[in-house]
Amino acid sequence: MVKQKSLKPKSLRLVITTMLLSVLFLACVDNTKKAEYESTVDIPVSREMIAELTSPPNVPTPVGRRKAKKLIVNMEILEQEGTMTDGTTYNYWTFGGSVPGSFIRTRVGDEVEFTLSNHPDNKLPHNIDLHAVTGPGGGATSSFVAPGHEKKFNFKTLNAGLYVYHCATAPVGMHIANGMYGLILVEPEGGLPPVDKEYYIMQGDFYTKGKNGDPGLQAFDMQKAVDEDADYVVFNGRVGALTGDNAITANVGETVRLYVGNGGPNLVSSFHVIGEIFDKVHVEGGSIINKDVQTTLIPAGGATIVEFRVDVPGTFILVDHSIFRAFNKGALGMLKVNGEEDKRIYSGVVQEGIYQPEGGGIQIMPNGDDKKPTVNVSKTLAEKMESGKQIYMQTCFACHQAEGQGIPSAFPPLAESDYLNADVNRAIGIVLRGKTGEITVNGEKYNSVMTRQAISNDEIADVMTYIYNSWGNNKTNVTKAQVDQIKNGH
Ligand code: CU
Repeated sequence: MVKQKSLKPKSLRLVITTMLLSVLFLACVDNTKKAEYESTVDIPVSREMIAELTSPPNVPTPVGRRKAKKLIVNMEILEQEGTMTDGTTYNYWTFGGSVPGSFIRTRVGDEVEFTLSNHPDNKLPHNIDLHAVTGPGGGATSSFVAPGHEKKFNFKTLNAGLYVYHCATAPVGMHIANGMYGLILVEPEGGLPPVDKEYYIMQGDFYTKGKNGDPGLQAFDMQKAVDEDADYVVFNGRVGALTGDNAITANVGETVRLYVGNGGPNLVSSFHVIGEIFDKVHVEGGSIINKDVQTTLIPAGGATIVEFRVDVPGTFILVDHSIFRAFNKGALGMLKVNGEEDKRIYSGVVQEGIYQPEGGGIQIMPNGDDKKPTVNVSKTLAEKMESGKQIYMQTCFACHQAEGQGIPSAFPPLAESDYLNADVNRAIGIVLRGKTGEITVNGEKYNSVMTRQAISNDEIADVMTYIYNSWGNNKTNVTKAQVDQIKNGH
């Protein structure tokens, strides 16, 4: 039995008095703090500083405990051609030369002196509407600026949060669709809690005269934009801005904070990181914090802050979980995490076997090869490599990985693969028909299932040429005729 100590009336009185006093004391402290200013508009500013602006995926230094300041922001508008995807370019209109535009980091109570300059080589007038501004047009009415001119206006940051800014010059949709958006962060008093890694990501949808992947300089398509029929949905302005060598990185045990915005102009984003759970989500970029979230919705013209600790190594894929956008339109990024495995959290494959119910076999996906017109144009190796890489990133990448390294004990490597290099016809046959059963690649046994791939013979030739001419393979140039022959040979 636990012996309970009873409080005597005298000590009870003492306890109550102490409690009352502490409540009073706390109230006093609170009052003094509040008395500093009645609302954020009264926060005094001390001195001037020039704002650090960064291009994505980087963010400026956290504000920490610094006092509110007069913050000088100099933003330059540049209209410039850039890469949308390999072989495809686009005329981007940008704030600061990047899509999304430069990241602006402020704290509540800052007095921002904003200068917007329109480069003399630009063709059009522009302006800026910052959602962090309280005032007509969010600054748009005061910042309309012709090429070769600049405009200055001031605003006070009254509300903490993560805000979108964008051009609001008519036709507004077109200016946004061409990349004119970015994020401005207003940190609360004392700053956001420190984390190990911070990154800047923004989704946008693009509308081009040609289809997704059509080569050359692609013009903006107004009708597709009105119909909300996007050709590209991407992070940070283009396909692959956050994949491969451009991936964002972290080490096991670190906390990662992502400032994620959605420029639109049309689509909302179902933002998700495959293999991670957001420990915290600053809902809609505001002050409510939700916890343990899988996917968070980011409206067009909205933003969110997500935070999570990375516990195990690997490549974590960032997607818009409207998933065709991720795998077919470009809304895919990567977070590469280095460090020690933790088998308590994730085991990896512990057993692998073949499961074939009666009547089962290799799953057949529609090929569509019969419907496609025969392409008789002979492509150069460079052209095949380019097309092959795109097919690879859409079709093969999930299992065989970006550098052809495969996934240990699940999917064999294609890089420096003895199995691949030994017999090209066998390899073509596998892509055409699928493969099941044990094979040995570079001395390791694999016993997985590869389905027949839903791509044309021409595409098979391109993607295999790409594979054979990458990652230390034997540089075989696979032709469509060769693929046709293997297909008809059985
Ligand atoms: Cu504009």
